[in-house]
Amino acid sequence: MPKQTSNGSMSNEDALKLNARYISSSRVSAYQAYGLDFVQGRREGVRIWDLDGNSFINCRSSGGVFNFGHRPQFAIDALKAALDEIDMGDWLLLSPYRALAARALAEILPGDLQYTFFTASGAEAAECAVKLARGLTRRPGIVCLENGYHGHVGFGLAMDDEIYNQWYRPLTPGITRVPMNDVDAVDRAIDDSTAVVCMETIPATAGYIVPPDGYFERIREICNNRGALLMLDEVQCGMGRTGKFWAADHWKVVPDLLMFGKSTSGGIYPISGCCYSEKVENFLKADPIFHPSSYSGAEPGTVVVCEVIKKLTEPGFLDHVNNMSRKFKLGFDDLCARFPDKLVEHRGLGLMLALETHSEEQGFALMRQAVAHRILAVYANNRRSSLLIMPPLIISSDEVDEVLSGLEASVKAMKA
Ligand SMILES: Cc1ncc(COP(=O)(O)O)c(C=O)c1O
Repeated sequence: MPKQTSNGSMSNEDALKLNARYISSSRVSAYQAYGLDFVQGRREGVRIWDLDGNSFINCRSSGGVFNFGHRPQFAIDALKAALDEIDMGDWLLLSPYRALAARALAEILPGDLQYTFFTASGAEAAECAVKLARGLTRRPGIVCLENGYHGHVGFGLAMDDEIYNQWYRPLTPGITRVPMNDVDAVDRAIDDSTAVVCMETIPATAGYIVPPDGYFERIREICNNRGALLMLDEVQCGMGRTGKFWAADHWKVVPDLLMFGKSTSGGIYPISGCCYSEKVENFLKADPIFHPSSYSGAEPGTVVVCEVIKKLTEPGFLDHVNNMSRKFKLGFDDLCARFPDKLVEHRGLGLMLALETHSEEQGFALMRQAVAHRILAVYANNRRSSLLIMPPLIISSDEVDEVLSGLEASVKAMKA
């Protein structure tokens, strides 16, 4: 077994060859073309190292999986202690651990969201949420956003942008896509057959486009008037990422269904889920075991969820996120003012931030330069002119300075 540490026996080159041989040679070639031609090794806090010992500040965080940094001790300790007592548990049987994690979530969820069904990935959470919506309303229709992303399975894949699903058709029917931030389009798209309006509260793969004030108020009202449910995907933007527990809290909107994932894992045990209100729970009278799945609600994951929520609710935690956000924004104001030929603007909430260049080519160039300057950040796949900056929420003030100076060097090194 090779030692996969920065000073271990395997180099980037060896590991790339091994990946090309046994994982996918096409994938390795594609990554080489993107400048991501290294292999992840040691990781700690906000940093990861490649197998040759080069370190990067992780401003990708796997889309929010590493909100608490890499290998957070509080989560590791809780998971190790849990493994002395429990295994995954039987999905069919009731579990105290699942109920405790669901209660911890209920304490921070918006409005009357109370129940949780735990899943093993964000995509599976989308499956469950849509099943609940269709089951409750007995309607087939789903209205979702253009350029959205909800995972690569079933309903989620069908709702995603066509660049993700073009090879896998026919997709599940009943989907209507509408442009972002267009209330009238949602209004027109909903009819008597609409079960649910599903959207990311802040569309992530679309480049962290923040909805305007008043938007969700009107969407909520339209759903209420037309008997459709509102489902918000907070897999990326939830759990403190935007400086509040949930992005929905910025507008005080209460959805009927809310998906979470990524950061609830603490980066160490995959767990996600969907939360729902009493109204939605009523459907389980008809089908109490609506989503049998062996790994759903695995108990070690629910233990991690409780610890993650404890961390998130510690006094000062969200203040830190907001302080680091302000520091980034000041730095980005300065970069945008000094390099107007390369940067158009920056946007985002909390530590979900995007730098907008003038073109896809510039977005790609900025990503390559950032990686070359040891800042791991990628462009938004559905808006490639945007570089996404999503560091762990525990990033320190000094580390923000390091990211800003790395980005400044990256912007300077880009061709206009
Ligand atoms: C907003 C959003 N929803 C859902 C998903 C799917 O989550 P997973 O990759 O855990 O299936 C993702 C993944 O990137 C996401 O960003």
